[in-house]
Amino acid sequence: MNLPNLAVAADRKKTLVKERKLDMEIKPIYKGKKYFLRTYGCQMNVHDSEEIKYYLESLGYEAVEELELADIVVLNTCAIRENAKDKVFGYLGRCKHLKKEKPDLIITVAGCLMQKPNEIEEIHNRHKYIDIVIGTHNLNELPNLIEEANNKKTQNIEVYSNSDVVFENVKYNRDSKISAWINIIYGCDKFCTYCIVPFTRGRERSRKMEEVLEEVSNLKEQGYMEITLLGQNVNAYGKDLDLGYDFATLLEEVAKIGIPRIRFVTSHPWNFTDKMIDVIAKYDNIMPYVHLPIQSGSDDILRKMNRKYTIDEYKKLFDQIKNKVKDVAITTDIIVGFPNETDEDFKKTLDIVNYCKYDGAYTFIFSPREGTAAARMEDKVSMEVKEKRLQELNNLVNKYSLESNQRLVGKVVEVLVNDISEKDNNKVYGYTDTMKLVNIVGGNELIGKIVQVKITDAKSFSLDGEISQE
Ligand code: 5AD
Ligand code: SF4
Repeated sequence: MNLPNLAVAADRKKTLVKERKLDMEIKPIYKGKKYFLRTYGCQMNVHDSEEIKYYLESLGYEAVEELELADIVVLNTCAIRENAKDKVFGYLGRCKHLKKEKPDLIITVAGCLMQKPNEIEEIHNRHKYIDIVIGTHNLNELPNLIEEANNKKTQNIEVYSNSDVVFENVKYNRDSKISAWINIIYGCDKFCTYCIVPFTRGRERSRKMEEVLEEVSNLKEQGYMEITLLGQNVNAYGKDLDLGYDFATLLEEVAKIGIPRIRFVTSHPWNFTDKMIDVIAKYDNIMPYVHLPIQSGSDDILRKMNRKYTIDEYKKLFDQIKNKVKDVAITTDIIVGFPNETDEDFKKTLDIVNYCKYDGAYTFIFSPREGTAAARMEDKVSMEVKEKRLQELNNLVNKYSLESNQRLVGKVVEVLVNDISEKDNNKVYGYTDTMKLVNIVGGNELIGKIVQVKITDAKSFSLDGEISQE
Protein backbone atom coordinates (compact mmCIF):
# COMPACT_ATOMS: atom_id res chain seq x y z
CA MET A 1 0.00 0.00 0.00
CA ASN A 2 1.28 3.47 -0.96
CA LEU A 3 -0.81 6.55 -0.23
CA PRO A 4 -0.45 10.00 -1.85
CA ASN A 5 0.44 13.14 0.07
CA LEU A 6 -0.09 16.65 -1.34
CA ALA A 7 2.94 18.22 0.37
CA VAL A 8 5.23 15.61 -1.19
CA ALA A 9 3.43 16.09 -4.53
CA ALA A 10 4.18 19.84 -4.40
CA ASP A 11 7.85 19.38 -3.54
CA ARG A 12 10.14 20.70 -6.28
CA LYS A 13 13.53 20.03 -4.70
CA LYS A 14 16.03 19.47 -7.48
CA THR A 15 17.16 15.88 -7.65
CA LEU A 16 18.55 14.18 -10.71
CA VAL A 17 15.90 12.59 -12.89
CA LYS A 18 16.52 8.89 -13.43
CA GLU A 19 15.84 7.23 -16.73
CA ARG A 20 14.48 3.70 -16.39
CA LYS A 21 14.09 1.36 -19.33
CA LEU A 22 11.14 -0.95 -18.92
CA ASP A 23 11.90 -4.53 -19.71
CA MET A 24 8.75 -6.45 -18.94
CA GLU A 25 7.71 -9.90 -19.85
CA ILE A 26 3.95 -10.23 -19.57
CA LYS A 27 2.36 -13.63 -20.10
CA PRO A 28 -1.16 -13.96 -21.57
CA ILE A 29 -2.48 -15.72 -18.47
CA TYR A 30 -6.02 -14.33 -18.78
CA LYS A 31 -6.74 -15.40 -22.36
CA GLY A 32 -10.47 -15.53 -22.98
CA LYS A 33 -11.24 -12.91 -20.32
CA LYS A 34 -12.61 -9.47 -21.17
CA TYR A 35 -11.72 -5.90 -20.20
CA PHE A 36 -13.69 -2.68 -20.25
CA LEU A 37 -11.66 0.55 -20.23
CA ARG A 38 -13.10 4.02 -19.86
CA THR A 39 -11.02 7.20 -20.14
CA TYR A 40 -11.83 10.64 -18.74
CA GLY A 41 -9.99 13.90 -19.34
CA CYS A 42 -7.17 15.17 -21.53
CA GLN A 43 -4.96 13.73 -24.30
CA MET A 44 -2.39 12.73 -21.69
CA ASN A 45 -4.96 10.37 -20.18
CA VAL A 46 -6.00 9.11 -23.59
CA HIS A 47 -2.36 8.22 -24.25
CA ASP A 48 -1.93 6.64 -20.79
CA SER A 49 -4.93 4.47 -21.63
CA GLU A 50 -3.01 3.18 -24.65
CA GLU A 51 -0.33 2.02 -22.19
CA ILE A 52 -3.02 0.44 -19.99
CA LYS A 53 -4.40 -1.31 -23.09
CA TYR A 54 -0.96 -2.74 -23.79
CA TYR A 55 -0.80 -4.28 -20.30
CA LEU A 56 -4.35 -5.65 -20.42
CA GLU A 57 -4.01 -7.11 -23.90
CA SER A 58 -0.58 -8.58 -23.14
CA LEU A 59 -2.18 -10.34 -20.17
CA GLY A 60 -4.61 -11.88 -22.67
CA TYR A 61 -7.68 -9.74 -21.93
CA GLU A 62 -9.86 -8.78 -24.89
CA ALA A 63 -11.67 -5.43 -25.19
CA VAL A 64 -15.46 -5.21 -24.83
CA GLU A 65 -17.70 -2.21 -25.36
CA GLU A 66 -20.22 -3.21 -22.71
CA LEU A 67 -19.43 -2.97 -19.03
CA GLU A 68 -21.64 -5.96 -18.22
CA LEU A 69 -19.44 -8.33 -20.28
CA ALA A 70 -16.21 -7.43 -18.50
CA ASP A 71 -14.04 -9.48 -16.13
CA ILE A 72 -11.96 -6.40 -15.36
CA VAL A 73 -12.98 -2.73 -15.47
CA VAL A 74 -10.43 0.07 -15.60
CA LEU A 75 -11.48 3.69 -15.16
CA ASN A 76 -8.72 6.15 -16.08
CA THR A 77 -9.79 9.27 -14.21
CA CYS A 78 -9.38 13.05 -14.39
CA ALA A 79 -9.17 15.55 -11.52
CA ILE A 80 -9.23 18.89 -13.32
CA ARG A 81 -12.75 19.93 -12.28
CA GLU A 82 -15.35 18.69 -9.82
CA ASN A 83 -17.67 17.37 -12.55
CA ALA A 84 -14.90 15.03 -13.76
CA LYS A 85 -14.87 13.53 -10.28
CA ASP A 86 -18.67 13.28 -10.12
CA LYS A 87 -18.72 11.33 -13.39
CA VAL A 88 -16.21 8.78 -12.07
CA PHE A 89 -18.01 8.17 -8.80
CA GLY A 90 -21.31 7.97 -10.69
CA TYR A 91 -19.89 5.28 -12.94
CA LEU A 92 -18.39 3.43 -9.98
CA GLY A 93 -21.97 3.02 -8.71
CA ARG A 94 -22.73 0.93 -11.81
CA CYS A 95 -19.56 -1.12 -11.31
CA LYS A 96 -20.45 -1.80 -7.69
CA HIS A 97 -23.89 -3.01 -8.74
CA LEU A 98 -22.37 -5.31 -11.38
CA LYS A 99 -19.95 -6.77 -8.86
CA LYS A 100 -22.88 -8.01 -6.79
CA GLU A 101 -23.78 -10.27 -9.73
CA LYS A 102 -20.18 -10.99 -10.71
CA PRO A 103 -18.14 -11.21 -7.49
CA ASP A 104 -14.92 -12.02 -9.40
CA LEU A 105 -15.09 -8.77 -11.35
CA ILE A 106 -11.92 -6.73 -10.78
CA ILE A 107 -12.49 -3.00 -10.48
CA THR A 108 -9.48 -0.78 -11.11
CA VAL A 109 -9.30 2.98 -10.83
CA ALA A 110 -6.30 4.80 -12.29
CA GLY A 111 -5.27 8.33 -13.23
CA CYS A 112 -5.13 11.86 -11.84
CA LEU A 113 -8.07 11.66 -9.44
CA MET A 114 -6.30 8.86 -7.59
CA GLN A 115 -3.40 11.19 -6.78
CA LYS A 116 -5.69 13.08 -4.37
CA PRO A 117 -5.59 12.01 -0.70
CA ASN A 118 -9.26 12.87 -0.08
CA GLU A 119 -10.49 10.65 -2.88
CA ILE A 120 -8.24 7.83 -1.71
CA GLU A 121 -9.63 8.14 1.80
CA GLU A 122 -13.15 8.03 0.42
CA ILE A 123 -12.33 4.92 -1.62
CA HIS A 124 -10.62 3.24 1.30
CA ASN A 125 -13.48 3.92 3.71
CA ARG A 126 -16.57 3.77 1.53
CA HIS A 127 -15.74 1.91 -1.69
CA LYS A 128 -14.30 -1.39 -0.50
CA TYR A 129 -15.47 -3.14 -3.67
CA ILE A 130 -12.68 -1.40 -5.64
CA ASP A 131 -9.78 -3.84 -6.01
CA ILE A 132 -6.95 -1.77 -7.44
CA VAL A 133 -6.11 1.91 -7.15
CA ILE A 134 -3.09 3.02 -9.16
CA GLY A 135 -1.67 6.53 -9.65
CA THR A 136 -0.14 8.31 -12.62
CA HIS A 137 3.51 7.52 -11.80
CA ASN A 138 3.53 3.72 -11.82
CA LEU A 139 1.24 2.35 -14.54
CA ASN A 140 3.95 -0.23 -15.23
CA GLU A 141 2.96 -1.95 -11.96
CA LEU A 142 -0.51 -2.68 -13.33
CA PRO A 143 0.18 -6.23 -14.62
CA ASN A 144 1.45 -7.33 -11.19
CA LEU A 145 -1.41 -5.64 -9.36
CA ILE A 146 -3.93 -7.38 -11.62
CA GLU A 147 -2.34 -10.75 -10.97
CA GLU A 148 -2.42 -10.11 -7.21
CA ALA A 149 -6.04 -9.00 -7.37
CA ASN A 150 -7.00 -12.16 -9.26
CA ASN A 151 -5.35 -14.24 -6.55
CA LYS A 152 -6.55 -12.46 -3.43
CA LYS A 153 -9.40 -10.10 -2.79
CA THR A 154 -8.10 -7.24 -0.67
CA GLN A 155 -8.10 -3.66 -1.82
CA ASN A 156 -4.67 -2.54 -3.02
CA ILE A 157 -3.79 1.15 -3.27
CA GLU A 158 -0.51 1.93 -5.00
CA VAL A 159 -0.15 5.68 -5.51
CA TYR A 160 3.15 7.59 -5.39
CA SER A 161 2.97 11.33 -4.70
CA ASN A 162 5.70 12.48 -7.05
CA SER A 163 8.33 11.03 -9.32
CA ASP A 164 11.90 11.58 -10.44
CA VAL A 165 11.74 8.80 -13.01
CA VAL A 166 11.31 8.93 -16.76
CA PHE A 167 10.38 5.53 -18.13
CA GLU A 168 11.64 4.52 -21.55
CA ASN A 169 10.72 1.55 -23.68
CA VAL A 170 7.09 2.01 -22.63
CA LYS A 171 4.78 0.01 -24.90
CA TYR A 172 1.43 1.22 -26.17
CA ASN A 173 -1.43 -0.47 -27.98
CA ARG A 174 -2.40 2.64 -29.90
CA ASP A 175 -6.00 3.49 -30.79
CA SER A 176 -5.07 4.70 -34.27
CA LYS A 177 -2.75 3.51 -37.04
CA ILE A 178 -2.75 7.01 -38.57
CA SER A 179 -2.21 9.46 -35.76
CA ALA A 180 -0.06 8.89 -32.67
CA TRP A 181 0.59 10.63 -29.35
CA ILE A 182 4.15 11.02 -28.07
CA ASN A 183 4.99 12.15 -24.55
CA ILE A 184 7.91 14.56 -24.54
CA ILE A 185 7.64 16.00 -21.03
CA TYR A 186 5.79 14.75 -17.97
CA GLY A 187 4.49 16.85 -15.07
CA CYS A 188 4.22 20.59 -14.54
CA ASP A 189 6.11 23.07 -12.34
CA LYS A 190 4.03 26.14 -13.14
CA PHE A 191 1.59 25.98 -10.24
CA CYS A 192 -1.16 28.12 -11.71
CA THR A 193 -3.15 28.73 -8.54
CA TYR A 194 -6.37 27.05 -9.78
CA CYS A 195 -4.73 23.93 -11.17
CA ILE A 196 -4.37 20.49 -9.63
CA VAL A 197 -2.11 19.11 -12.38
CA PRO A 198 1.28 19.94 -10.72
CA PHE A 199 0.06 17.82 -7.78
CA THR A 200 -1.34 14.93 -9.81
CA ARG A 201 1.37 14.69 -12.47
CA GLY A 202 4.42 15.67 -10.43
CA ARG A 203 7.53 17.63 -11.32
CA GLU A 204 8.63 18.36 -14.88
CA ARG A 205 10.60 15.50 -16.39
CA SER A 206 11.68 15.61 -20.03
CA ARG A 207 12.47 12.60 -22.15
CA LYS A 208 15.88 12.72 -23.82
CA MET A 209 15.75 14.01 -27.37
CA GLU A 210 17.28 10.84 -28.85
CA GLU A 211 14.50 8.75 -27.26
CA VAL A 212 11.77 10.97 -28.70
CA LEU A 213 13.40 10.99 -32.13
CA GLU A 214 13.70 7.23 -32.12
CA GLU A 215 10.00 6.90 -31.31
CA VAL A 216 9.13 9.31 -34.11
CA SER A 217 11.27 7.36 -36.61
CA ASN A 218 9.64 4.08 -35.58
CA LEU A 219 6.18 5.56 -36.04
CA LYS A 220 7.17 6.85 -39.45
CA GLU A 221 8.37 3.39 -40.45
CA GLN A 222 5.04 1.97 -39.31
CA GLY A 223 3.31 4.38 -41.69
CA TYR A 224 1.93 6.93 -39.24
CA MET A 225 0.82 10.13 -40.96
CA GLU A 226 0.59 12.36 -37.90
CA ILE A 227 2.16 12.70 -34.48
CA THR A 228 1.25 14.97 -31.59
CA LEU A 229 3.97 15.85 -29.09
CA LEU A 230 2.44 15.90 -25.63
CA GLY A 231 3.21 17.82 -22.46
CA GLN A 232 1.29 19.88 -19.89
CA ASN A 233 3.56 22.64 -21.11
CA VAL A 234 5.70 21.62 -24.08
CA ASN A 235 7.64 24.93 -23.95
CA ALA A 236 9.33 23.72 -20.76
CA TYR A 237 10.80 20.77 -22.66
CA GLY A 238 14.50 20.23 -21.96
CA LYS A 239 14.85 22.76 -19.13
CA ASP A 240 15.26 20.01 -16.55
CA LEU A 241 17.82 18.12 -18.64
CA ASP A 242 20.49 20.79 -19.02
CA LEU A 243 21.71 19.19 -22.23
CA GLY A 244 21.68 22.41 -24.23
CA TYR A 245 18.49 21.86 -26.16
CA ASP A 246 14.94 23.14 -25.85
CA PHE A 247 11.52 22.59 -27.39
CA ALA A 248 12.37 24.51 -30.56
CA THR A 249 15.41 22.23 -31.12
CA LEU A 250 13.31 19.12 -30.57
CA LEU A 251 10.52 20.34 -32.84
CA GLU A 252 12.98 21.07 -35.63
CA GLU A 253 14.66 17.66 -35.33
CA VAL A 254 11.25 15.95 -35.31
CA ALA A 255 10.21 17.91 -38.41
CA LYS A 256 13.34 16.75 -40.26
CA ILE A 257 12.36 13.10 -39.83
CA GLY A 258 9.60 13.81 -42.30
CA ILE A 259 6.33 12.57 -40.82
CA PRO A 260 3.65 14.39 -42.88
CA ARG A 261 1.95 16.11 -39.95
CA ILE A 262 3.37 17.24 -36.62
CA ARG A 263 1.36 18.82 -33.82
CA PHE A 264 2.09 19.71 -30.20
CA VAL A 265 -0.01 20.52 -27.12
CA THR A 266 -0.10 22.47 -24.82
CA SER A 267 1.89 25.69 -24.93
CA HIS A 268 1.97 28.12 -22.03
CA PRO A 269 2.18 31.70 -23.33
CA TRP A 270 4.94 32.50 -20.84
CA ASN A 271 7.98 30.83 -22.40
CA PHE A 272 6.86 30.56 -26.00
CA THR A 273 10.11 31.63 -27.68
CA ASP A 274 10.77 33.44 -30.99
CA LYS A 275 12.79 30.41 -31.98
CA MET A 276 9.69 28.22 -31.57
CA ILE A 277 7.67 30.53 -33.82
CA ASP A 278 10.44 30.48 -36.45
CA VAL A 279 10.59 26.68 -36.47
CA ILE A 280 6.79 26.37 -36.76
CA ALA A 281 6.84 28.84 -39.65
CA LYS A 282 9.78 27.18 -41.40
CA TYR A 283 8.58 23.57 -41.73
CA ASP A 284 5.58 22.63 -43.86
CA ASN A 285 4.99 19.48 -41.86
CA ILE A 286 4.58 21.39 -38.57
CA MET A 287 0.90 22.18 -38.61
CA PRO A 288 -0.13 25.86 -38.45
CA TYR A 289 -2.11 25.39 -35.28
CA VAL A 290 -1.32 26.63 -31.78
CA HIS A 291 -3.35 26.04 -28.63
CA LEU A 292 -2.46 29.03 -26.47
CA PRO A 293 -4.49 29.12 -23.22
CA ILE A 294 -5.14 32.66 -22.03
CA GLN A 295 -7.39 31.80 -19.02
CA SER A 296 -8.49 35.41 -18.39
CA GLY A 297 -8.42 38.85 -20.02
CA SER A 298 -7.71 40.68 -16.78
CA ASP A 299 -4.15 41.35 -15.59
CA ASP A 300 -5.41 41.34 -12.03
CA ILE A 301 -6.90 37.87 -12.37
CA LEU A 302 -3.89 36.60 -14.34
CA ARG A 303 -1.66 37.69 -11.45
CA LYS A 304 -3.88 35.91 -8.96
CA MET A 305 -3.76 32.85 -11.21
CA ASN A 306 0.07 33.01 -11.20
CA ARG A 307 0.07 32.95 -15.01
CA LYS A 308 3.30 35.03 -15.30
CA TYR A 309 2.20 37.16 -18.30
CA THR A 310 0.15 40.30 -18.84
CA ILE A 311 -2.49 40.85 -21.50
CA ASP A 312 -0.12 43.13 -23.40
CA GLU A 313 2.53 40.40 -23.47
CA TYR A 314 -0.04 37.84 -24.60
CA LYS A 315 -1.26 40.10 -27.40
CA LYS A 316 2.32 40.66 -28.57
CA LEU A 317 2.95 36.92 -28.71
CA PHE A 318 -0.40 36.29 -30.39
CA ASP A 319 0.35 38.89 -33.08
CA GLN A 320 3.83 37.50 -33.67
CA ILE A 321 2.49 33.98 -34.22
CA LYS A 322 -0.25 35.30 -36.52
CA ASN A 323 2.23 37.39 -38.52
CA LYS A 324 4.92 34.77 -38.92
CA VAL A 325 2.98 31.51 -39.34
CA LYS A 326 0.95 31.58 -42.54
CA ASP A 327 -2.80 30.95 -42.08
CA VAL A 328 -2.26 29.83 -38.50
CA ALA A 329 -5.24 28.87 -36.34
CA ILE A 330 -5.11 29.71 -32.66
CA THR A 331 -7.37 28.24 -29.97
CA THR A 332 -7.45 28.89 -26.25
CA ASP A 333 -8.75 27.93 -22.79
CA ILE A 334 -10.67 30.42 -20.65
CA ILE A 335 -11.84 30.20 -17.05
CA VAL A 336 -14.71 32.38 -15.83
CA GLY A 337 -15.64 32.96 -12.21
CA PHE A 338 -12.15 32.81 -10.71
CA PRO A 339 -12.49 33.90 -7.03
CA ASN A 340 -13.81 37.45 -6.84
CA GLU A 341 -13.69 38.05 -10.60
CA THR A 342 -15.50 41.37 -11.09
CA ASP A 343 -17.77 42.43 -13.96
CA GLU A 344 -14.89 44.61 -15.09
CA ASP A 345 -12.48 41.64 -15.12
CA PHE A 346 -14.98 39.58 -17.08
CA LYS A 347 -15.49 42.39 -19.58
CA LYS A 348 -11.74 42.33 -20.20
CA THR A 349 -12.01 38.63 -21.01
CA LEU A 350 -14.66 39.46 -23.63
CA ASP A 351 -12.35 42.22 -24.92
CA ILE A 352 -9.43 39.85 -25.48
CA VAL A 353 -11.72 37.37 -27.24
CA ASN A 354 -12.83 40.21 -29.50
CA TYR A 355 -9.19 41.04 -30.13
CA CYS A 356 -7.98 37.50 -30.85
CA LYS A 357 -11.12 36.20 -32.61
CA TYR A 358 -10.08 32.67 -31.73
CA ASP A 359 -10.68 29.74 -34.07
CA GLY A 360 -12.00 27.93 -31.02
CA ALA A 361 -12.01 28.12 -27.24
CA TYR A 362 -12.60 25.72 -24.38
CA THR A 363 -14.41 27.57 -21.64
CA PHE A 364 -14.87 26.58 -18.02
CA ILE A 365 -16.34 27.80 -14.77
CA PHE A 366 -13.67 27.88 -12.07
CA SER A 367 -13.85 24.74 -10.00
CA PRO A 368 -12.03 24.89 -6.63
CA ARG A 369 -9.53 22.01 -6.32
CA GLU A 370 -8.64 21.14 -2.80
CA GLY A 371 -4.93 21.67 -2.11
CA THR A 372 -4.51 24.49 -4.67
CA ALA A 373 -3.98 28.14 -3.67
CA ALA A 374 -7.14 29.38 -5.44
CA ALA A 375 -9.32 26.95 -3.52
CA ARG A 376 -8.32 28.83 -0.36
CA MET A 377 -9.21 32.27 -1.80
CA GLU A 378 -12.33 34.07 -0.64
CA ASP A 379 -15.02 34.12 -3.35
CA LYS A 380 -18.13 36.26 -3.22
CA VAL A 381 -19.32 35.67 -6.79
CA SER A 382 -22.48 33.56 -6.98
CA MET A 383 -22.78 30.50 -9.22
CA GLU A 384 -25.67 32.21 -10.99
CA VAL A 385 -23.39 35.08 -12.06
CA LYS A 386 -20.66 32.63 -13.12
CA GLU A 387 -23.11 30.67 -15.26
CA LYS A 388 -24.35 33.86 -16.93
CA ARG A 389 -20.77 34.87 -17.70
CA LEU A 390 -20.03 31.46 -19.19
CA GLN A 391 -23.11 31.71 -21.42
CA GLU A 392 -22.17 35.18 -22.63
CA LEU A 393 -18.60 34.09 -23.27
CA ASN A 394 -19.71 30.96 -25.14
CA ASN A 395 -21.97 33.00 -27.42
CA LEU A 396 -19.05 35.24 -28.35
CA VAL A 397 -16.55 32.42 -28.75
CA ASN A 398 -18.96 30.43 -30.95
CA LYS A 399 -19.59 33.46 -33.12
CA TYR A 400 -15.86 33.71 -33.91
CA SER A 401 -15.38 29.97 -34.49
CA LEU A 402 -18.32 30.03 -36.91
CA GLU A 403 -16.84 33.05 -38.69
CA SER A 404 -13.42 31.42 -39.02
CA ASN A 405 -15.08 28.26 -40.39
CA GLN A 406 -17.23 30.25 -42.80
CA ARG A 407 -14.13 31.83 -44.31
CA LEU A 408 -13.21 28.36 -45.60
CA VAL A 409 -16.45 27.77 -47.51
CA GLY A 410 -15.68 27.40 -51.24
CA LYS A 411 -11.96 26.88 -50.55
CA VAL A 412 -9.97 23.70 -51.12
CA VAL A 413 -8.09 22.48 -48.03
CA GLU A 414 -5.99 19.45 -47.14
CA VAL A 415 -7.61 16.96 -44.80
CA LEU A 416 -6.07 13.89 -43.17
CA VAL A 417 -8.91 11.37 -43.10
CA ASN A 418 -9.20 9.52 -39.79
CA ASP A 419 -12.18 7.18 -40.06
CA ILE A 420 -15.76 6.54 -41.13
CA SER A 421 -18.17 9.02 -39.56
CA GLU A 422 -20.13 7.46 -36.69
CA LYS A 423 -23.28 9.36 -37.60
CA ASP A 424 -23.30 8.66 -41.33
CA ASN A 425 -21.73 5.59 -42.96
CA ASN A 426 -21.48 7.36 -46.31
CA LYS A 427 -19.11 9.90 -44.85
CA VAL A 428 -15.61 9.99 -43.43
CA TYR A 429 -14.13 12.56 -41.10
CA GLY A 430 -10.74 14.15 -40.70
CA TYR A 431 -8.95 17.32 -39.74
CA THR A 432 -7.52 20.24 -41.69
CA ASP A 433 -3.94 21.28 -40.98
CA THR A 434 -5.49 23.97 -38.74
CA MET A 435 -7.26 21.24 -36.72
CA LYS A 436 -10.78 21.87 -37.98
CA LEU A 437 -13.07 18.85 -38.12
CA VAL A 438 -14.40 18.10 -41.62
CA ASN A 439 -17.11 15.58 -42.60
CA ILE A 440 -16.60 14.43 -46.17
CA VAL A 441 -18.75 12.36 -48.50
CA GLY A 442 -16.68 9.25 -49.19
CA GLY A 443 -15.72 5.75 -48.10
CA ASN A 444 -13.07 3.50 -46.53
CA GLU A 445 -10.55 4.02 -49.30
CA LEU A 446 -9.88 7.57 -48.07
CA ILE A 447 -8.88 6.57 -44.53
CA GLY A 448 -5.27 7.42 -43.69
CA LYS A 449 -4.84 9.66 -46.73
CA ILE A 450 -4.31 13.38 -46.99
CA VAL A 451 -6.92 14.54 -49.51
CA GLN A 452 -7.89 17.82 -51.14
CA VAL A 453 -11.35 18.78 -49.94
CA LYS A 454 -13.65 21.52 -51.12
CA ILE A 455 -15.51 23.00 -48.15
CA THR A 456 -19.25 23.21 -48.82
CA ASP A 457 -20.69 24.28 -45.46
CA ALA A 458 -19.59 25.61 -42.08
CA LYS A 459 -20.93 25.22 -38.55
CA SER A 460 -19.43 26.43 -35.26
CA PHE A 461 -17.67 23.13 -34.52
CA SER A 462 -17.30 21.42 -37.90
CA LEU A 463 -17.17 21.77 -41.66
CA ASP A 464 -18.76 19.78 -44.49
CA GLY A 465 -16.82 19.05 -47.64
CA GLU A 466 -16.42 16.97 -50.75
CA ILE A 467 -13.35 15.56 -52.50
CA SER A 468 -12.09 18.32 -54.78
CA GLN A 469 -12.08 17.64 -58.52
CA GLU A 470 -10.03 20.78 -59.22
N1 5AD B 1 -11.36 25.07 -12.79
C1 5AD B 1 -11.76 25.30 -14.05
N2 5AD B 1 -10.98 25.09 -15.12
C2 5AD B 1 -9.73 24.63 -14.91
N3 5AD B 1 -8.74 24.33 -15.76
C3 5AD B 1 -7.68 23.88 -15.04
N4 5AD B 1 -7.98 23.88 -13.74
C4 5AD B 1 -9.25 24.35 -13.62
C5 5AD B 1 -10.11 24.59 -12.52
N5 5AD B 1 -9.73 24.37 -11.26
C6 5AD B 1 -8.82 24.54 -17.21
C7 5AD B 1 -7.75 25.51 -17.70
C8 5AD B 1 -6.78 24.61 -18.39
C9 5AD B 1 -7.68 23.53 -18.93
C10 5AD B 1 -7.00 22.27 -19.29
O1 5AD B 1 -8.59 23.31 -17.88
O2 5AD B 1 -8.36 26.41 -18.61
O3 5AD B 1 -6.07 25.27 -19.42
FE1 SF4 C 1 -2.10 23.52 -14.84
FE2 SF4 C 1 -0.88 25.86 -15.32
FE3 SF4 C 1 0.54 23.54 -15.41
FE4 SF4 C 1 -1.28 24.09 -17.33
S1 SF4 C 1 0.63 25.27 -16.90
S2 SF4 C 1 -1.02 22.11 -16.22
S3 SF4 C 1 -2.87 25.18 -16.19
S4 SF4 C 1 -0.45 24.45 -13.61
